[in-house]
Amino acid sequence: MERKKSNRTDKHPPINSKLPHIIHGADYNPDQWLDRPDLLEEDLRLMRLAGCNTMTLGIFSWVALEPREGEFNFFWLDRIMDDLAGSGIFVILATPTAAKPAWLARKYPEVLRVTADRRRRLHGLRHNHCFTSPVYRERAGIINRMLAERYGSHPALLMWHISNEYGGECHCPLCQEAFRRWLRRKYDDNLDNLNRAWWTAFWSHTYTDWQQIESPSPIGESLLHGLTIDWKRFVTDQTIDFLRSEVAPIREITPDIPVTTNFMGTYPGINYWKFSNELDVISWDSYPCWHSNGDTMDCGHPSDREGRDWKVAADTAFAHNIMRSLKRGRPFMLMESTPSVSNWHPVHKLKRPGMNRLSSLLAVAHGSDTVQYFQWRRSRGSSEKLHGSVVDHSGSEHTRIFKEVAEIGSELKKLDDLVGTTVPAETAIIYDWENRWAIDEAMGPVYGRDKQYERTCKNHHYPLWALGIPTDVISAGCDFSPYRLVIAPMLYMVKEGVAERLESFVQQGGILACTYWSGIVDQNDLCFLGGFPGPLRRVLGIWAEEIDALYPEERNRLIMESDNDLGISGEYELRDFCEIIHAESAHVLARYAGDFYRGQPVLTANSFGKGMAYYLAARAEERFLRDFYGSLADKCSLKRALNVDLPEGVSAQLRSDGRRDYIFLLNFAQSPQAVDLGERAFRELLSGTELSGRIELEPFDVKVMV
Ligand code: GLA
Ligand code: ZN
Repeated sequence: MERKKSNRTDKHPPINSKLPHIIHGADYNPDQWLDRPDLLEEDLRLMRLAGCNTMTLGIFSWVALEPREGEFNFFWLDRIMDDLAGSGIFVILATPTAAKPAWLARKYPEVLRVTADRRRRLHGLRHNHCFTSPVYRERAGIINRMLAERYGSHPALLMWHISNEYGGECHCPLCQEAFRRWLRRKYDDNLDNLNRAWWTAFWSHTYTDWQQIESPSPIGESLLHGLTIDWKRFVTDQTIDFLRSEVAPIREITPDIPVTTNFMGTYPGINYWKFSNELDVISWDSYPCWHSNGDTMDCGHPSDREGRDWKVAADTAFAHNIMRSLKRGRPFMLMESTPSVSNWHPVHKLKRPGMNRLSSLLAVAHGSDTVQYFQWRRSRGSSEKLHGSVVDHSGSEHTRIFKEVAEIGSELKKLDDLVGTTVPAETAIIYDWENRWAIDEAMGPVYGRDKQYERTCKNHHYPLWALGIPTDVISAGCDFSPYRLVIAPMLYMVKEGVAERLESFVQQGGILACTYWSGIVDQNDLCFLGGFPGPLRRVLGIWAEEIDALYPEERNRLIMESDNDLGISGEYELRDFCEIIHAESAHVLARYAGDFYRGQPVLTANSFGKGMAYYLAARAEERFLRDFYGSLADKCSLKRALNVDLPEGVSAQLRSDGRRDYIFLLNFAQSPQAVDLGERAFRELLSGTELSGRIELEPFDVKVMV
């Protein structure tokens, strides 16, 4: 097959040309320590000692900056900015809007969020303001403008961190009105259009006046799927609208300073594909449950202790891959991670020695140009006083954690060449937010049980990751042409144009892999008529007539046809969902072994134009996905980070500037692992040594090789 040229091989500029190095730093909250100038002084010494070059400042500083309405105090921040600059440390400056001062909530109660059950919250906590409130926008605009004016040309300023972890929703009267306006725009001011799109004739739900429409609520409407999906779309758009109002003065005053806000991986509440258009750089907060007992994982994950961190790493890599893909391969930022423990996991396991280094370099291996922590200095009171930090309550540099951070700091300095390089992916997995919303809402094929869309996407990502095959994680709206293999697990919602673009991708030689429960609804969440998988039927060459759901303990099996063109033989276990399909133009590669649909196809391939479209009609065990994707990877001759056998537990990842490849070897096993590098000689960047032949990786060790 013809090899497609990847367009991802150019080197990107650094986040800010002031600092062409890997960023190493942390959230810094000096406003909690203003009465301890001695500690603030000490912080500067410790930051240098830890090899930190950047601090993220001011995330929750609103009341320190504006203690009373219209009364501002920037002196403390002036001092901190100057001191950091004087110590050679750059600043990612936050707008403080993620937590509001009490005076603001008291004077303007409209800024307080209203929950879905229509209760207005009291003042407290954070991340809970109304995104529509004109007063909130006005007050946020004023403080943001003042920050931009005051620090826009400060030598320490590297970038803007807008608010913090945008999320949640508000159901207040202002938001209801905004939602109705949004709907009027979307449906051309025509209620008939909305009624048709939402299928409101059902249960006499037809609206006859825009004012009758209310956001979904547990005490009101919660089953009108068209309404729910549109509400979620509105929440994304309204959050973006708020962000735009926050960013406007900043862009006006500092057009050359890049803007980011910190994402939360696969957080379901906001469609990050839309949101990312507003940002210059993607950043995110990553808190995996390292060393967990398996409770935080499900579906197909082994429970043996040895394998757990390896699977957690694969899941974390899935999110890193999304973050890089959001900006088409541009390096992202690991904005937050804990150097030791979190304070909100079920059990606060210490990161074992070496794990902070390993997880930090895992992010870098997938395209992060930063390693940043929450938080620099552990706060003394309130809910995060026991959260991990670089400097703990002892204040000492002689802690295990501090020493590990300092070691990472000195190692990152050896990786300057990586800055701006990307991950040249020829494979993409579709993980689509709107599809997820639709799947989560649907009352079938199981009820009250997670249908595991996210888990399924991660399970399909895992075998490619384990083989060290660079993989993007994209939305159904992305361009498929840079890829040779596109995997679309559970593509239940097929929006306008997607089927056509997948068809032309396969037509031109691409390989497509789809699964059960695809092509069921359109973008309005209305079922396709004329047979599933709806508009994907032609390219997949199958008709999916029914879908059977299995109880958690039930299993079926898949038997490979002899001499199938994947070169796989034998039987594999199936669970959860078994779709009954008919091969139309497709040929059959495997059949069901049990139940009344025994002998019917479960795996098919449809030759279409110059490419091939595979359909897997049931949820198959991990071993099958490994064999299946292993075979497709061979067929497509997908480039691997390293063309050698890797023991389970060792991940090989690739970054490249198009000419030079940087290969990461990361050992997530708790025992030493051997890898045979063969004849080729590599230079290891962290130790400066030459490597070739059989090498041994200590538990949690990392090599970065060129
Ligand atoms: C989030 C927030 C931080 C902090 C950490 C704790 O990521 O952005 O302010 O609360 O969680 O893990
Ligand atoms: Zn509101």
